[in-house]
Amino acid sequence: MSGISSVYLIGMKSMLSVLKGNTLDTPPIWLMRQAGRYLPEYKETRKQAGSFLDLCYNPELAAEVTLQPIRKFGFDAAILFADILLIPDALGQMVAFKEGVGPILEPINVDELKAGRMDDKLHKVYETVSILKKELPEETTLIGFAGAPWTVMTYMIEGGTDKSREYRRTSTYILTNPQKADHLLLILVEATAHYLIQQIEHGAEVVQLFDSWAGAVKGPWRESLVYEPTRKIVNRVKEVHPDVPIIGFPRGIGNEYADYIKHTGVDAVGLDEGISLEKASMIQELCPVQGNLSSELLADDLDAALKQTDLILESLNRKPFIFNLGHGILPHTPEAHVHALIEKIRK
Ligand code: CP3
Repeated sequence: MSGISSVYLIGMKSMLSVLKGNTLDTPPIWLMRQAGRYLPEYKETRKQAGSFLDLCYNPELAAEVTLQPIRKFGFDAAILFADILLIPDALGQMVAFKEGVGPILEPINVDELKAGRMDDKLHKVYETVSILKKELPEETTLIGFAGAPWTVMTYMIEGGTDKSREYRRTSTYILTNPQKADHLLLILVEATAHYLIQQIEHGAEVVQLFDSWAGAVKGPWRESLVYEPTRKIVNRVKEVHPDVPIIGFPRGIGNEYADYIKHTGVDAVGLDEGISLEKASMIQELCPVQGNLSSELLADDLDAALKQTDLILESLNRKPFIFNLGHGILPHTPEAHVHALIEKIRK
């Protein structure tokens, strides 16, 4: 272990240390969607809970599924078990998760959203955070999260996942109802900032903003739909909790990572697997990075995944770095592959 990292490690959790700008010989590792269907114990608890939303709003069971991958794999961070679509649900737009289909949302009526009533539902999530704060091992960092306004807005307007990835309904809505679209973005900024601040006040030590569909927003729209709403949330959270790191994950934005970092003020970024290691190193000149092993590779070709892991470590672990996938772990990923990955990172 190098001098600087060992000094900083004493008394500081590895993930927080990296987010404060330190480089560790062994980078912290966690995986997006690390609680989920690739784990039999998750499926068991999920059955016990009833629906997916019932699980999200059941503090004991949501804490239990958050802890399952920590117990099994000893990840350096736990991500609160919840979903980015709890915000629309809590705002009063009905959300359901259909087996094999994904989320379905009732048609949106912006004028009927009830921002003032959100915590009637979301207090259950804050309770989950409180339980986790007590139950997590001392060295494990607790990550809170929310969806970024653009990504959440696509679900609210499309009524679910747009499989074409074109978001035509959303762009038509913005063009034909600009005032309503602005109002919706404003509601989402306020709601998301409030939600993240509450998570922090109940024990989250880092928060991540998932902008999974940021890559679909082109050119001049990036400022108003991605950067500005994210920047407003970052500013609001930092006004109250300046020391809590915020990770942005603008999936698919390719060459615009530097712009995203500059325009939003996030402390670190998650990189998707579309970013080459050469580009990733350049982005890492600006802030700590997290990523970016392909989820498909980890699920389907362990040898190739471990080779790519070596390349990632060689390129990115000379500066502040958190190991992760480029997006969520896939349900068919064998547990043995996750064990082998962790062993590789910690060797
Ligand atoms: O372990 C963790 O990462 C924490 C929990 C978490 C979930 N969703 C649980 C979940 C997190 C951080 C999310 C984020 C999320 N949710 C995103 C952003 C990240 C990404 O994947 O792009 C998005 C777009 C959603 C919305 C969402 N939730 C969709 C489209 C779906 C259906 C598709 C699918 O994978 O089933 C979900 C469901 C969902 N969220 C599941 C889990 C474990 C599967 C539900 C089940 O058990 O049946």
